Amino acid sequence: MNDRKLCVITGSSSGIGAATARLYAQHGWNVVINFSREAVPADATADACRALGGEALVVKADVAFDADCRRLATEVEARFGRADVLVNNAGTTKFVAMKDLEGLSAEDFQRIYAVNVIGAYQMTRALAPLLRRHAPAGIVNISSIASMMGMGSSLAYMASKGALNALTIGLARALGPEIRVNAIAPGLVETPWLQQGLERG
Ligand SMILES: NC(=O)c1ccc[n+]([C@@H]2O[C@H](COP(=O)([O-])OP(=O)(O)OC[C@H]3O[C@@H](n4cnc5c(N)ncnc54)[C@H](OP(=O)(O)O)[C@@H]3O)[C@@H](O)[C@H]2O)c1
Repeated sequence: MNDRKLCVITGSSSGIGAATARLYAQHGWNVVINFSREAVPADATADACRALGGEALVVKADVAFDADCRRLATEVEARFGRADVLVNNAGTTKFVAMKDLEGLSAEDFQRIYAVNVIGAYQMTRALAPLLRRHAPAGIVNISSIASMMGMGSSLAYMASKGALNALTIGLARALGPEIRVNAIAPGLVETPWLQQGLERG
């Protein structure tokens, strides 16, 4: 077993997830970097974390798929034998103006929910046994100010983050006190995501 604490951050190849991974590495933790599509930025984040002195494992897994989440947890257990913090950061959206009700389909809602809500649930379920092994442990869900302000990239995104807030409170009751579960609701953060939104106008 590794003596360093371990943080698993979903969606950590760029933006908030990558910054979170670097911060944990800076504080002497090992990290697991996750992405679903582009390996190059994930490898770059892992290298940056290793340069700070810790170990970094890169795992390709789409959190919308339960089999991917369970495989990720298995790889973490095999490599590190522990997990102390899970950051459910992976998120997706579709940029659609609020007034454009025809701009969002049921499939758009379902894909956004699959990643932002069900993905966080599936990762939590897959990793909970390992998190419990070295309790106290923590889970941080990255929500958004959009969940409370009626603004953001789309109505489907806002609703998904509202659901994530409710899930966070329920999971806190279900998993505490061994595993503390909290959410953070950032405002605008300059990441590739925000850039994509601005480019769409
Ligand atoms: N930026 C903001 O202003 C802002 C504000 C409030 C909240 N947030 C939240 O913060 C989180 C991160 O956003 P960000 O701005 O840092 O975005 P970002 O720079 O676009 O990064 C998103 C990360 O998630 C990964 N990802 C996307 N879908 C995934 C999936 N299904 N499974 C696993 N990984 C996946 C991406 O890699 P791949 O594309 O390779 O999968 C990437 O690593 C999101 O939950 C977002 O809702 C952002």
